[in-house]
Amino acid sequence: MYWLGIDVGTGGTRAILVDRDGTVKAGFTAPHEEMTMLQPLWAEQRPENWWDAAQAAIRGVLAQAGIDAGAIQAIGLSGQMHGLVILDDTGAVIRPSLIWCDQRSQPQVDAINARLGRDRVVAAIANPVLTGFTLPKLLWVRDNEPALYSRIRKVLLPKDYLRYCLTGEFASDVSDASGTALFDVVNRRWSGDLCEGLGIPAEWLPEVYESPQITGRISDAAAGATGLRAGTPVVGGGGDQASSAVGNGIVEPGIVSCTIGTSGVVFAHTDAPAYDPAGRVHTFCHAVPGKWHVMGVTQGAGLSLQWFRNQFAPSHDYDTLTAEAAAAPPGAHGLVWLPYLMGERTPHLDASCRAAWIGLTAKHRRADLIRAILEGVVFSQNDGLGIITGMGVPVSRVRLSGGGARSTFWRQMFADVFACPVTTLETQEGSAYGAALLALAGEKEPVEQVCRRAIREVATHAPDPHQAAAYGKAYSAYRAAYPALRPLYAAL
Ligand code: XUL
Repeated sequence: MYWLGIDVGTGGTRAILVDRDGTVKAGFTAPHEEMTMLQPLWAEQRPENWWDAAQAAIRGVLAQAGIDAGAIQAIGLSGQMHGLVILDDTGAVIRPSLIWCDQRSQPQVDAINARLGRDRVVAAIANPVLTGFTLPKLLWVRDNEPALYSRIRKVLLPKDYLRYCLTGEFASDVSDASGTALFDVVNRRWSGDLCEGLGIPAEWLPEVYESPQITGRISDAAAGATGLRAGTPVVGGGGDQASSAVGNGIVEPGIVSCTIGTSGVVFAHTDAPAYDPAGRVHTFCHAVPGKWHVMGVTQGAGLSLQWFRNQFAPSHDYDTLTAEAAAAPPGAHGLVWLPYLMGERTPHLDASCRAAWIGLTAKHRRADLIRAILEGVVFSQNDGLGIITGMGVPVSRVRLSGGGARSTFWRQMFADVFACPVTTLETQEGSAYGAALLALAGEKEPVEQVCRRAIREVATHAPDPHQAAAYGKAYSAYRAAYPALRPLYAAL
């Protein structure tokens, strides 16, 4: 018997199969088209491309495992959060998705706050509205593409578009819905107050489930397209961060995860909703029924290294680049990287801020530039961790995952800067793995119990106090840089 997890990431869609103990049987990734950036800080992808990639990933994982699709008991979905997918009355996609890192909607965020007042918004959804969230993107379409807006009949998130393709159902889960800015996170239902206050028809929004609940079954058409068995149940699943947290066993208080993919996220489980009064970390529902989480988001984490590689070292792989960085000392000879390639969420909540190396001299080598990038990403995640611990959320250790966890050099840097042990897990599959575990839990077994059975730590990096001290000066400069540069960003 097997369970399938599918994650609609930014770079690709990944499908993995696990057995009852959570052991991975096979995994297959189908890449996506590059995101389209028509203007700086805009980012779009075609939902139809996600569906094509999902079909390829499912067929790929089935072929790799060599199993009969009838052995799959249930399927869990995970996906990049916050993306806006709009469908017409035939179920066709109306325009490309404005995805999570798209920052064009500041005028709409300002208009929401002016109309309803920030306090009413926070009371309704437990968070301030941010440009990255789905609601202001929807209002951007209303304000700029009224002919397209008038055709909308359904509004979905990326993984829920995939669910629609697989099952014909319009459904979401509480963790992903939390990132729309239309969801009453405390009561785990759509916010009637915000929908009415902003004129969003409630019937546009999908049915919302807890993450392990069954939301539909594979349709005959989807079975033909993917090789799955018609009738296989599909559970709610989760936003990629909540799913990744399940895959990392962050389902009880105490352990925090740090996931370095395109974005970087520090994530803590909470038994009740916990808030940062300044809204610098998000308060969302967890994929564990009846639980919540807080998370701090660096927009351009893995993206910083990916951007560097694509622009300056296209023939190098990430392992070579991180090894090169190790040749430079902590602080990279006085060079600091601000990772704000797509604006920033935690801690600045500023869609207009921009990335920079600060302190360049003719002495600097490429190793320093890469090292500064790795350090800047860690500093940004440390800002998020500091806010979470400042809220009184307990943190005994941090579990690192995502592509960034592959480098032992980068892992040690996280431990040194966090001043806290950093562990990695036997299965570093992240979001797709969490989605498979949610399918495995289903409506039969608590998610916590599945995680206890499936998840094993394999390596621990203890913080080295000498190295930690060596980062002190660079971190102070990093912290001082944003306030100093802020007046410039508007001019850019
Ligand atoms: C979380 C977030 C990103 C995306 C892409 O709030 O925006 O992590 O989900 O991975």
